[in-house]
Amino acid sequence: MSYSISNELTDSAIKPIAEPIARLEELCRQIEQSGFGFVSGQLLKSWLSAMSENALSDWLQFQASWNDMPLDTYMADGGRYRRRRYAVMSADSTSSPIVLEPHQPHYQSLDYNPLNGGVARHFQPIAQEIVLGNTMSSVLGFCQQVFGRLAPATAWHIELHQFRIEAKQGQAGMPTPEGVHRDGVNFVLVMMVKRNNISSGTTTMHDLQLRKLDSFTLTAPFDCAIVNDERCMHGVTPVRQIDPAQPAYRDVLVVTFRKAKGNQHEPGRLD
Ligand SMILES: [Fe+2]
Repeated sequence: MSYSISNELTDSAIKPIAEPIARLEELCRQIEQSGFGFVSGQLLKSWLSAMSENALSDWLQFQASWNDMPLDTYMADGGRYRRRRYAVMSADSTSSPIVLEPHQPHYQSLDYNPLNGGVARHFQPIAQEIVLGNTMSSVLGFCQQVFGRLAPATAWHIELHQFRIEAKQGQAGMPTPEGVHRDGVNFVLVMMVKRNNISSGTTTMHDLQLRKLDSFTLTAPFDCAIVNDERCMHGVTPVRQIDPAQPAYRDVLVVTFRKAKGNQHEPGRLD
């Protein structure tokens, strides 16, 4: 059920990815085999641009929207190094429009997030012009195509998280303070938006017994990790400031897709 027709993604011209479709299928095969995949920023940009010629027209505005985010004050470790915003969307099927849902709290059970889960956390919404803008629309369209291939005929509950992790001298920033974890969804995309004056921040992939499967570092904008969250766990190593005179931060977009029961969205609750 759409929240409001006016909240549909603005770029109605988004097309299925035509080229290089073979590599998209290759990516899906890789995710099916390994449970996760890495896509370089260069390749993702080429896919997004193939979906719509205006796919990335608001990229600079999109990237700059990470500069104005409130502190996450729910950190059970007392840390004040994470800034974030949040939005919930939904899609009734693999091919139907992705629509913005009413703003709502974020909830993770303690099973998935023993550090910060178990309570409804209220975060400020992502600005509408960013959620509904061309860059976000094209990234979500990409997710819908990939996850729709992996799980056809699915209605989706979709959550978007803007994260900034800050590092200072003598104080590393923790991208995943809960450690190696699952998000409690079906699929996750983590996309690099900007790295500024930081080292490390390496993504690690693990099986459900915590055995390490792989590691890689998202460095360039649009570099992304795609995870089958039912099969793999993930973590990110702390980030450290390089030049003590300059701000140091790691900006990422996290998109989660969870199968909705029926065609109704479920407000902010993870199974
Ligand atoms: Fe996560």
